Amino acid sequence: MKLLIKGGRVVDPAAGINGENDILVEDGKISAVGNNLSVSGTAGGAETIDAAGKLVLPGLIDMHVHLREPGFEAKETIATGTRAAAMGGFTGVACMPNTNPVIDSRALVEFINSRAASEGLVNVYPIGAVTKGSKGEELAEIGDMKLAGAVGISDDGHPVMNAQLMRLAMEYAGMFGLPVISHCEDLNLVADGVMHEGYQSTVYGLKGITRAAEETMVARDIILAELTGARLHIAHISTAGSVDLVRMAKKRGLNITAEATPHHFSLTDEAVGNYDTATKVNPPLRGEEDVEAVREGLRDGTIDVIATDHAPHAVEEKDVEFNYAPFGIVGLETAVGLSFRELVEPGILTVEDLVMKMSVNPARILGLVKGTLKPGADADITIIDPDLKEKVDISRFETKGKNSPFGGWELKGLPVATIVGGRVVMRDRRLWQENDKIRNTSGG
Ligand code: DOR
Ligand code: ZN
Repeated sequence: MKLLIKGGRVVDPAAGINGENDILVEDGKISAVGNNLSVSGTAGGAETIDAAGKLVLPGLIDMHVHLREPGFEAKETIATGTRAAAMGGFTGVACMPNTNPVIDSRALVEFINSRAASEGLVNVYPIGAVTKGSKGEELAEIGDMKLAGAVGISDDGHPVMNAQLMRLAMEYAGMFGLPVISHCEDLNLVADGVMHEGYQSTVYGLKGITRAAEETMVARDIILAELTGARLHIAHISTAGSVDLVRMAKKRGLNITAEATPHHFSLTDEAVGNYDTATKVNPPLRGEEDVEAVREGLRDGTIDVIATDHAPHAVEEKDVEFNYAPFGIVGLETAVGLSFRELVEPGILTVEDLVMKMSVNPARILGLVKGTLKPGADADITIIDPDLKEKVDISRFETKGKNSPFGGWELKGLPVATIVGGRVVMRDRRLWQENDKIRNTSGG
């Protein structure tokens, strides 16, 4: 089966390409990139996608996603989460281990891999827990999980409060070449806070979460990374102080990377305004100066990655008073549109920068041989129409989670095709099943 993508603007920073090109896909791999490519002698076997006016990019990878399986299938499954990923233009997602049971052993990593192989519409890369049950008491089977295919370790959802345990985790992860992905939060400082601590939390009468809860842990983990030589990745960075700490650490040559979410670069704590539980997230939506600092961190390269922290919850779980709602925002189906609207359109990032932060850097951090369209590479491709506009319609999300504060937002710059290993899983904003149906009814 061959696939020819014609006339799009190919942006592949790893190959030094940024211009109009055709791409030929054969047997799941990129076989050629160039002008005036054609498929010869393939009667019936070739499909052509006209990409004129579109951006053709190495497949986007979201390195921070909660797929909720096993154990929380009412919130999401590998099937529904990867459908949402395909709709969002992602050819791969790394899934967090805060499931039930927690992914803390070789057998559980293997479980994720086998479910992903049978149910997943896009590539799934399991992240293993740092500690058994993510309880913060004893280390998980880090080496075994690596052998089973884990791409990193994290107790995401919880911090590793014990600094000595974090030190040991970093030493082990270093031995196995795995990044440690840190959810930076000091639980004592957070106490029972539910939103950013500041003027707005006072006005709403809600308990606040100080910036220091994040920043003290970012500082601690940077110090431990320096001590151990570990590869540290800071998840969902949210404050100006954290961005400064990472910037300083990088200046000192430390091997540290960081990610920011679309909600943290798009919204301030004012969004909580009507006690909308869809805005309740951890770390919380912060102040204007923090949002500015996150954007500047993305611009100047301090923040390497855009990741969604896609955190679906069941409708009835979020449909309660603000204090009782779980933390989390779904992100897979709005990430590209928000990145264009908030970062590309205002000139903070170029399309090339965006490809670095949504494909090249996540691949590099997780050790994946992905993030390029060079001949021989896996044919994981995302096609974006930079002019396509759509209002966010939460009722049409593929994810089971409807907890998005972006309903009704007008987004411009949207994924129109997602191709995984040469297979078209999303096209024209529809999933492959629907496309197949259309093809079968119109083509016979
Ligand atoms: O808001 C969040 N939700 N932050 C996290 O760190 C965990 C996540 C979840 O699992 O729901
Ligand atoms: Zn987290």
